[in-house]
Amino acid sequence: MGNPKWALAPWAVLLLLQLSSASHHTRRSLETEAASPSVPASIVSPLLRTGYHFQPPMNWINDPNGPLYYKGWYHLFYQYNPKGAVWGNIIWAHSVSRDLINWIALEPAITPSIPTDKYGVWSGSTTILHDGTPAILYTGIGRPDTNYQIQNIALPKNASDPLLREWTKPDYNPIAVPVAGINATQFRDPTTAWFAGGRWRMLVGGLRPGTLRGEAILYRSRDFKHWVRAKHPLHSALTGMWECPDFYPVAKAGAERGLDTSAYGAGVAKHVLKNSLDLTRYDYYTVGTYDNTAERYVPDNPTGDVYRRLQYDYGNFYASKTFFDPVKQRRILLGWANESDSVAHDKAKGWAGIQAIPRKIWLDPSGKQLVQWPIEELEKLRGKPVNVGDKVVMPGQHFEVTGLHSYQSDVEVSFEVSSLDKAEPFDPAYINDAQKLCGMKGADVKGGVGPFGLWVLASADLAEKTAVFFRVFKDGYGGKPVVLMCSDPSKSSLTPDLYKPTFAGFVDTDISSGKISLRSLIDRSVVESFGAGGKTCILSRVYPSMALGKDAHLHVFNNGATDIKVSRLAAWEMKKPLMNGA
Ligand code: FRU
Repeated sequence: MGNPKWALAPWAVLLLLQLSSASHHTRRSLETEAASPSVPASIVSPLLRTGYHFQPPMNWINDPNGPLYYKGWYHLFYQYNPKGAVWGNIIWAHSVSRDLINWIALEPAITPSIPTDKYGVWSGSTTILHDGTPAILYTGIGRPDTNYQIQNIALPKNASDPLLREWTKPDYNPIAVPVAGINATQFRDPTTAWFAGGRWRMLVGGLRPGTLRGEAILYRSRDFKHWVRAKHPLHSALTGMWECPDFYPVAKAGAERGLDTSAYGAGVAKHVLKNSLDLTRYDYYTVGTYDNTAERYVPDNPTGDVYRRLQYDYGNFYASKTFFDPVKQRRILLGWANESDSVAHDKAKGWAGIQAIPRKIWLDPSGKQLVQWPIEELEKLRGKPVNVGDKVVMPGQHFEVTGLHSYQSDVEVSFEVSSLDKAEPFDPAYINDAQKLCGMKGADVKGGVGPFGLWVLASADLAEKTAVFFRVFKDGYGGKPVVLMCSDPSKSSLTPDLYKPTFAGFVDTDISSGKISLRSLIDRSVVESFGAGGKTCILSRVYPSMALGKDAHLHVFNNGATDIKVSRLAAWEMKKPLMNGA
């Protein structure tokens, strides 16, 4: 397989340049395209509106903003269009929760009102200051039509209000403007600040002018009012624009405990830097070392920004943000899952976008990647259970899990592969492209060990089904197993005009014992899956036309040539939480 060093070949430059024309603005204009008149009835069915994933009663949402815990409440702000189901008129909507599962909608927290945010209030983060007061850093659009981006601050009007209902914008705004050396239309999404060596520090996502170099632009401040840009970005790479950077410490490998964003020194094993890549619409991260004196972050894997990149989620999950939860001493990840239907569909539905289920996130025992798991509070929604044990699924066979309505469910499966002998040879050409491999070897393409997994949201006749599965290969260097996890929605719906991408990621797990687990959170039009205990995650949006509500079925399938045992399957119907009054 060799050890390829990534270098930007001329063809790659051309490709990136081509892709970069499909940037922010192009996407925005697509989202506001005129609606086509034909919208199938199934798309507007209330049965496709998610039941336990975060969403407002109507309209468009995108990025989670400034999540925090404050005086007994979790707060989630998010990018919201109060006027429609397409991107536009963006404000910071605001919801609060006691448990990150049941949500109460409050009045919007930030709306355009000052010269430096008059044309838009875009994404940002919250920092708890030394006196315990939260401060929001966010991007304002300061000029009409040009997306001229400026960083601003907002503070609670009344810090004794645990609901933080009103926010004010102090006179010393803005706190950072796009001076020379900064691309004014690619300068946004300030992070949570951390305190190091007597100064606050924070990052703003950017793109170095005239280049394809994505940057985490570094600022420092003594008083949280006056911010000075550091000479060098904290980190950068030839990837295109970095939206929504996130930067935080993690505790020693395998420790599930989260750390405050300012933690440094003893107790901090590594730092994580995430960016949301506008060109690909995925969230990538590296694990590395941060030196707060040199003000540098160095990824452990020197090519990790561009080659065999780690993603929080290999599916529809973007513009995510973490925060430290002091109550349960954990770090929590929130991410936006856009729709995969058309603008016309969204307009007809009257809503677009959800937030993924909040996930606890920590450093894997290997120290090389992160692990994610739905927060434990989600289990409070578990209702009627069904259990299956010790069931062998022979090659070409499948069985239905009966006894529950699975359209809104939580399913955990432990698989055991009887032998790895028949694993297909792995073609190293795909080592950097799991998605392509899975696109070729979908759920119906017979294999040696797998594909095996779940068919979810399946119609009675199986004409509609979304497959979430594993396929095991062996590499050409001693036959080491290579595990691929996929979500194949190609048969998920008979509705036309849907975007049905196959999503996939490799799973860095030891399958030599034959064991591997899968958990899928199924919620009407979303399937959020966690492979091998959360090492690889894939969120998919699907819109069945028949497998709706009680007509949705759940199966375990095996299209490989090797027996698979379901040693344990536990599934629960999920109750509906309070969801912003909807
Ligand atoms: C990410 C993003 C951010 C921006 C916001 C605008 O989805 O493009 O970079 O601040 O959305 O809504």
